[in-house]
Amino acid sequence: MVKICCIGAGYVGGPTMAVIALKCPSVEVAVVDISVSRINAWNSDQLPIYEPGLEDVVKQCRGKNLFFSTDVEKHVYEADIIFVSVNTPTKTRGLGAGKAADLTYWESAARMIANVAKTDKIVVEKSTVPVKTAEAIEKILAHNSKGISFQILSNPEFLAEGTAIQDLLNPDRVLIGGRETPKGQKAVEALKGVYAQWVPEERIITTNLWSAELSKLAANAFLAQRISSVNAMSALCEATGADVQEVSYAVGKDSRIGPKFLNASIGFGGSCFQKDILSLVYICECNGLEEVACYWKQVIKVNDYQKARFVNRVISSMFNTVSGKKIAVLGFAFKKDTGDTRETPALDVCKGLLGDKARLSIYDPLVTEDQIRRDLSMNKFDWDHPIHLQPPTSPASIKHVSVAWDPYQAAKGAHGLCILTEWDEFKELDYEKIYESMQKPAFVFDGRNIVDVARLRKMGFIAYSIGKPLDPWLKGMPALA
Ligand code: NAD
Ligand code: UDX
Repeated sequence: MVKICCIGAGYVGGPTMAVIALKCPSVEVAVVDISVSRINAWNSDQLPIYEPGLEDVVKQCRGKNLFFSTDVEKHVYEADIIFVSVNTPTKTRGLGAGKAADLTYWESAARMIANVAKTDKIVVEKSTVPVKTAEAIEKILAHNSKGISFQILSNPEFLAEGTAIQDLLNPDRVLIGGRETPKGQKAVEALKGVYAQWVPEERIITTNLWSAELSKLAANAFLAQRISSVNAMSALCEATGADVQEVSYAVGKDSRIGPKFLNASIGFGGSCFQKDILSLVYICECNGLEEVACYWKQVIKVNDYQKARFVNRVISSMFNTVSGKKIAVLGFAFKKDTGDTRETPALDVCKGLLGDKARLSIYDPLVTEDQIRRDLSMNKFDWDHPIHLQPPTSPASIKHVSVAWDPYQAAKGAHGLCILTEWDEFKELDYEKIYESMQKPAFVFDGRNIVDVARLRKMGFIAYSIGKPLDPWLKGMPALA
């Protein structure tokens, strides 16, 4: 029986290994982590992450050919194939701080593999890493190999949160990069054999190591670039009376462009896009490619601009101050169908409103009060360092923030309401009831373009939606900074 071990039981390691276990009954899969609480949760009825369909897959395989354990060394020792799916956050200090990927967790995993292994291993980079990382990992492993053969493969993950199980069951492609040597190619074939259990062969792409590593950074940069492009257009739409949804539709109908990932928003969030573009920028700079670095940096600048623009719009619309006013915030997760708040744009918007002394009442169907308070008290970039390594923060330190258990409670007595995550339930709310319960004039700011602003305006709301023709009320307001 082939044995697989995955180091890192997070958003990628957990779901990916669960699907491998489901589709490969003859493979034994162990997911290991240094976080005791995370592993305990994987072994309980309350999984540590929410993904539609995940619980079902885990329940089918757990205890049969899928195991979650903190005994990292035992499972690494026994495995034939070791996936490394640890976090690779942005460095917060030292050389490259604020841009470069922090490979501390990766390096410590590699050193542990080198120490523990007694037989040949295939080591798979599942984490997103800077191009050429495999070369560094090879050096660490080779230096300690005691005559053992280690083959390094790059097998980046393309799943998106909220749709992880569907993405894993039916991927657009699986990418495997390996050394162009007989041993390297044999390792590529072995990993290909695992995916071929359910992924059609033509969707399994094999490349050299550096192409695979770089393709992951490139894919995230391209996706984020589309969002910044449409968000930049949304500002121009508001200035001219064009409607960004009509523009996106017309542009996306060109088969060379395609319709996906053209939704204007308050900006992209999530643990990957910003981190990976910053890493790409740093790699370009290290290679003396200043213009290329500047090009990609602009994607993040526009994203920051979009978040700030939204905050300014809220404040300027409400008579240039939100001081002491109650603002209901609907949605805190970085997108729907996940409880993940890493780099959520909602956080920047909330901080911007708190900066103007607003009182916030936040509701999200999946994010806990504890998480919201922790996020609001965290420094930039701290979010992607494992939670168990965070110093505890005092929830009481976040003033002027309350967390509501339903959207109506959040909106009661509020002067304005901001929709920051595109949860389906926000489309179906009783906005008449919400209007009645709010202070007048009552404002709605839809940061995700999910509500019908024309309908809301008929009810009496002053309604703003990203990139849409402005409410007549807002046209007379001071120009945005
Ligand atoms: P995560 O923080 O959810 O999980 C990483 C886990 O690794 C943590 O539980 C941590 O405790 C564990 N860990 C760290 N060092 C360890 C060690 N030495 N030994 C054992 N366990 C260790 O991160 P994630 O979201 O799953 O991302 C993992 C990687 O995958 C990152 O490189 C990320 O960029 C990439 N990625 C993420 C996504 C996504 O949607 N989240 C998608 C594609 C790729
Ligand atoms: C992303 C990539 O899509 C995935 O392939 C990669 O493996 C990890 O990073 P993820 O961050 O989980 O996945 O979610 P994604 O659906 O890409 O959304 C990222 C952010 O962009 C969210 O905040 C989302 O709301 C926003 N977004 C997405 C838009 O603002 N507009 C869009 O059209 C699409």
